[in-house]
Amino acid sequence: MFAPQLIGFVRTPYSETGDVPRGLGAKHEAEGDLDILPEFEAGLTDIEGFSHLIVIWAFDRSQGFELYGKTPTDGLPHGVFATRSPRRPNPIALTIVELLGRDGPRLHVRGVDMLDGTAILDIKPYLSNVPKEKLRRGWLAEAETRKGK
Ligand SMILES: C[S@@+](CC[C@H](N)C(=O)[O-])C[C@H]1O[C@@H](n2cnc3c(N)ncnc32)[C@H](O)[C@@H]1O
Repeated sequence: MFAPQLIGFVRTPYSETGDVPRGLGAKHEAEGDLDILPEFEAGLTDIEGFSHLIVIWAFDRSQGFELYGKTPTDGLPHGVFATRSPRRPNPIALTIVELLGRDGPRLHVRGVDMLDGTAILDIKPYLSNVPKEKLRRGWLAEAETRKGK
């Protein structure tokens, strides 16, 4: 395997987990910055042309994992790999954000759901290629139907 190295930090309005909107219908519209370390700035070349980015980051403030447990979304137990729980064997997260602008090593984005100061592991352009009619949303769709969303 490999030892991940952080490439930067996220700046967000959230200092505690309870500050991040969650649950059914939660919207992630908060703006934040991806501050990339100077030694990785050259890797941002040509990124401005993409509207959305995948940010891969570390759940650096979660501890341990649970393979099967309840989620706050529907209060029912699910396997960890069928959820986005922070408590997973490898505490790796990803968030799709909208790129609003770049100022050198700083990317200004919308759609952050991480705590302020979270470590960034990677950034990739988002290229959605799953046709809507082929997408299935599993237990989440069932929970949304139950709630009438
Ligand atoms: C449900 S996870 C989803 C994260 C990501 N969008 C994903 O799908 O991998 C989002 C939650 O992770 C928690 N969180 C955010 N930043 C974190 C961090 N640095 N360490 C641990 N937990 C974090 C917050 O409680 C937030 O509500």
